[in-house]
Amino acid sequence: MLQEKYYPNKEHIKNASIKSMDEYNELMNAAKEDYEGFWGKFANEKIDWIKPYDKVLDESEAPFYKWFIGGKLNVAYQCVDRHLKTKKNKAAIIFEGDNGDKRVLTYLELAYEVSRTANMFKNEFGIKKGDRVVLYMPMIPEAAISMLACAKIGAIHSVVFGGFSAEALRDRIVDAEAKLVVTSDGAFRKGSPYMLKPVVDEALSKDCECVKAVCVIERNGEDVNWVAGRDYSYNELIKSQSKYCESEAMDSEDPLFLLYTSGSTGKPKGVQHSTAGYILWAQMTMEWVFDMKDNDTYWCTADVGWITGHTYIVYGPLAAGATTIMFEGVPTFPDAGRCWKMVEEYRVNQFYTAPTAIRLLHKMGADEPKKYDLSSLRILGTVGEPIDPPAWKWYYEEIGRSKCAIVDTYWQTETGGHMISPLPFATPIKPACATFPLPGIMAEIIDENGNPTPIGEKGFMCITKPWPSMIRTIWNDGERFAKSYFGDCKKDGKPVYFTGDGAMIDEEGYMTITGRTDDVINVSGHRMGTAEVEAAIKKHPSVAANAVVGKPHPIKGEGIFAYVVLKGEDNFATEAETIKEINEIIKKEIGAIALCDDIVFVPDVPKTRSGKIMRRILRSIAKGEEITQDTSTLEDPTIVRKIEEIVRSCKL
Ligand code: WTA
Repeated sequence: MLQEKYYPNKEHIKNASIKSMDEYNELMNAAKEDYEGFWGKFANEKIDWIKPYDKVLDESEAPFYKWFIGGKLNVAYQCVDRHLKTKKNKAAIIFEGDNGDKRVLTYLELAYEVSRTANMFKNEFGIKKGDRVVLYMPMIPEAAISMLACAKIGAIHSVVFGGFSAEALRDRIVDAEAKLVVTSDGAFRKGSPYMLKPVVDEALSKDCECVKAVCVIERNGEDVNWVAGRDYSYNELIKSQSKYCESEAMDSEDPLFLLYTSGSTGKPKGVQHSTAGYILWAQMTMEWVFDMKDNDTYWCTADVGWITGHTYIVYGPLAAGATTIMFEGVPTFPDAGRCWKMVEEYRVNQFYTAPTAIRLLHKMGADEPKKYDLSSLRILGTVGEPIDPPAWKWYYEEIGRSKCAIVDTYWQTETGGHMISPLPFATPIKPACATFPLPGIMAEIIDENGNPTPIGEKGFMCITKPWPSMIRTIWNDGERFAKSYFGDCKKDGKPVYFTGDGAMIDEEGYMTITGRTDDVINVSGHRMGTAEVEAAIKKHPSVAANAVVGKPHPIKGEGIFAYVVLKGEDNFATEAETIKEINEIIKKEIGAIALCDDIVFVPDVPKTRSGKIMRRILRSIAKGEEITQDTSTLEDPTIVRKIEEIVRSCKL
């Protein structure tokens, strides 16, 4: 049966950056006919090169692809300085605090702030090109300014999400051998101050010799501990810095940033992005997918600690010369109308959020949108996890008033920018479907042997040609990079990029993402490795073994379900206490985002004779599904029934 389609709003087609499927097909065909020519043309048009590149793509060391070889550019210049000629007084960043305080930075003001901060990093902390700087920051303009300041002087930033614990922060600092940590005293959430600096203090309390200094921004004014000779006040040091700073001429392939993300092993991966390819695609997708126009106000509710915050709050919007909103608070404070109030007040044209937020706002305030004028909205976006049809419908009808295009953007930390997404005024949209690969992106759904999967059957989402904004390597671990992403899938004998997601194609070529096919789970749009959570649980002294799986959750998308085997005689009388302790450990090792919804104690976990945990069976049990998998290959086939009974009796 053909699914219902929603056609682009005619009102906006005239000025849209891509106006029809014919135009889409033309672009796609141009890419297929002359791949390098396609990308080269956009690189010439979009990037303000210091020195033009010599060659578009070098595949000689695949999968370590290189783009725009020989070119020189600077991303801070591309995002800020170059706009001063035409839009120096345009708002670049509009900040709204948790408590409603506001701050607007024009492009000129942003240029000065970025230069001052860059000078401070250089002069006060001796940061040079190639040095790593960890940013552990709340959602305040200084987070974006510090990212751009690093880009200005060629330092490599690694932003660590503020919800990560001291242990998780330390791992990331050590892996990147960061010299400087930039943080704030804390910030505000739901009307109260919360703290970040104490987490940095704890992270640096051992094994962090690489860090020479901590630069602390004042946001909430709370008292913080001060280590003499290590900690410096941003607010003090910035005063004496010059507002002019030369942009370092960076090579196209110089790393722009690292961003740690979860994979299927316990150790997070430092995804390394490049300079030219990354910024090119960030800017192009801003123009194509969000149809950015000069007078638009764009708001993405992500956190800068995730890739969405990097590409679609900071780099993409600013490279495109847009006005981007940064919001410190949460969508439900002071009530579930906060976002819609802000949309009305700032006349937001593009609103981009995660399905988990849509479900939450729907549940907590279905009628809130009716109280506000949302007529400025033209495009609504979603990202981070599959969106379910009811959430899609509410978003479309209540927020978009059945007039906005919904762009369900499928992509990953590793892809740098959108891969599969509707074009808002060209693509006939099917609800909860990512639709087609963007022009230039060669995405295919294939089986283990590299053959396209038949219509309606699940396969692996792969990208069969390199693209400019792709991950370049895993920091310090090229081998893991090649193995994790290019080891499994082949097409025509050549390795292709394996996303780890399952997908399906329909009779009209529409692609729907069905979720991860590996041991990665997606909790409230936050990506988490089951192995990371398992490693944390294992630290509890009474735990002998454990296995973690995702379980569908009505708001969060997935919740974490842990099966725990206790040691020897440890009895179940202390269950409630042990559950509390396990969650405490998770909070300490990873952060509150990884807390388990369900922890059940079982006599053993199902393993194959070679010792591999059968997570598929555990997933089915967590969901309350019938076990259809063959259990005869298990070391102890009777364990499945035992676990099923325990879970059923827990009435989870
Ligand atoms: C999932 C976030 C379905 C997917 C940008 C992917 C999605 C993982 C979508 C990456 C979407 C992201 N529909 N699933 N529109 N967008 N995902 O690295 O499983 O935090 O592999 O990047 O989120 O998460 P990450």
